[in-house]
Amino acid sequence: MPARSHYLNNAATTWPKPECVAKAMAAFLEGRGANLARGSASRRDLGTLDMVTTCRMKIAALFGGPDADPRNVTFTANVTEALNIVLKGFLKPGMRAATSSMEHNAVMRPLRRLEGEGVSLAVMPCTREGTLEPDTLARELKKGLDLVVLSHASNVCGTVQDLDRLAPLCAAAGVFLVLDTAQTGGVLPIDATGWNLAACCFTGHKGLLGPQGTGGILWRDDFASVCRPLIEGGTGSFSHEEVQPSVLPDKFEAGTPNLPGLAGLLASLDWLGETGIDTIRKREDELGRKLLFGLRDIPGITLYGIGTMENRLPVFALNFDGVDNGRAALELADRWGIETRPGLHCAPVAHRTLGSFPQGALRISPGFFNTEEEIELCLEAVSTLSRENPHS
Ligand SMILES: Cc1ncc(COP(=O)(O)O)c(C=O)c1O
Repeated sequence: MPARSHYLNNAATTWPKPECVAKAMAAFLEGRGANLARGSASRRDLGTLDMVTTCRMKIAALFGGPDADPRNVTFTANVTEALNIVLKGFLKPGMRAATSSMEHNAVMRPLRRLEGEGVSLAVMPCTREGTLEPDTLARELKKGLDLVVLSHASNVCGTVQDLDRLAPLCAAAGVFLVLDTAQTGGVLPIDATGWNLAACCFTGHKGLLGPQGTGGILWRDDFASVCRPLIEGGTGSFSHEEVQPSVLPDKFEAGTPNLPGLAGLLASLDWLGETGIDTIRKREDELGRKLLFGLRDIPGITLYGIGTMENRLPVFALNFDGVDNGRAALELADRWGIETRPGLHCAPVAHRTLGSFPQGALRISPGFFNTEEEIELCLEAVSTLSRENPHS
């Protein structure tokens, strides 16, 4: 086993995190630690309220711009929970929903459950590169829909959907659009207000560089008001009532939130603000370009998705001719200390679209903290595996 490891699995979760994240989490647990809205308005109570409110404000501004209302931010454990709250809170038997053929199971599994309960579901086909064409969406909208839910970018091959063209189609048809920003939050500009998103669902532990166990939703008022909460219980407010409050943020936030996680998320949002999303995007794009152009030159491998850096994130899926991608991932880890992810990436429908089902693919996803040397090492390692492959 090599002494050093090289983490190229940032599409699963980003690592390392900025140092301030762990420090803020430890500082919360060790020094403050008060619950949210469930104390006596002591300094410690107010400190927690201030921390959570500031985090709401930063999320609202990041996804919705300066006019977005921080009360419309719901915190959840991750984007999977966020999507479940939104989809199960809105869709009822007899309604019609559409999604794309590039979705993660965080979207597809709740939709399939709802389909079994009488919601009708259209899975709109994407191109072989994973792009949803506006014409495909327009055709589906014409048939009549109640909701569209899309991933902003693929966690398998990095293809980014063109929201500037897709979102206005939903707005013009008066159909609610829900966006899964798991792969793009903190990496690409997201304009929940301009795109008229009904719900912008996010996860804290990927591009936002925060801890696992954080995520949430930025709601549009009219959509939030027609969704039922998935979980009901104590909110620290309206305690004289036995029914769930209907005001935001309380409506969708029953139970004690992940406060150490939110302390860490707030620190990472501050760090993102200081560093700048443009800087992060530029750096990731440079590393991605180097990796992509190098991979394209290696014989004996198949690359999936877009063949350039246009409209894509640095998330690359590939297969070796004749070498199982699980075996390749193990070899990369054991011989070079390179951490990747093989298999189906919780997105079987995306692999079907790309032509890599059922075997899946090896996914390599560099992040902001990787170095050029690590990309070179990865290219050397992939090239060596391909050369050693007796079938190539
Ligand atoms: C596009 C997409 N959606 C949803 C998820 C689920 O994220 P989480 O596990 O944080 O809920 C992921 C994670 O890989 C993803 O990439």
